[in-house]
Amino acid sequence: MRLNKYIAAAGICSRRKADELIANGNVKINGAVMKEMGYDVAEGDLVQVNGKEIAADEKKLYVAVNKPIGYITSMNDEQGRATVAELVKDIPERLFPVGRLDYNTSGLLIMTNDGQMSYTLAHPKHGVYKTYVARVAGVISDTKLAKLRKGVDIGGFVTAPARVKLVRQHPKSAIVEIQIREGKNRQVRKMFAAVGNKVQKLQRTAIGEIKLGRLMEGHYRKLTKEEIEYLKSL
Ligand code: URA
Repeated sequence: MRLNKYIAAAGICSRRKADELIANGNVKINGAVMKEMGYDVAEGDLVQVNGKEIAADEKKLYVAVNKPIGYITSMNDEQGRATVAELVKDIPERLFPVGRLDYNTSGLLIMTNDGQMSYTLAHPKHGVYKTYVARVAGVISDTKLAKLRKGVDIGGFVTAPARVKLVRQHPKSAIVEIQIREGKNRQVRKMFAAVGNKVQKLQRTAIGEIKLGRLMEGHYRKLTKEEIEYLKSL
């Protein structure tokens, strides 16, 4: 197995991060620094990342977490804010988040120690629709819906076609369901800003066919066999 894939498969990190670790000289094979991502790991090779031995056959775990607002999607935070690691702290395996949700966004986050899957899911080319429900200030007209669906400029980047549904228009705010395949930083907030509506509340309700459902905020559940097979099929 290629070295970058091997590191990801050991559940240390994503494949992209593995490439960085290798390039930065953090990876040793049989005691010597190895900087070739494509090095073919042989049986019996001792692979060390930051001095610690790793193995690619760790048990893989997949959980769905309902991230509350006020948690950062990271395993640690220098500023001492709450992290999503705390939401799965009773799981002994070191899980890490697949993609990100903003500090102020709640909802579905998948966490796993399967670095390969994490890499696949995070890559926009696999085109998994992520579903968000947003409460936005003001009125969402048909013209705005059409713009959001077609693609809007969010500052040097025009978003790909999105699925957008007005769920309810209140006098001063609207509930909108939006499905996007890309994952630019703060994309949904920026898309609504581009049509003149501020997002007041944002929740992710699904990643592809994986649904948040009735999972309580701050809680997690293990993905079912069917859900894991679905993710692997992507
Ligand atoms: N879009 C956003 O603006 N924020 C998120 O957390 C996710 C998507």
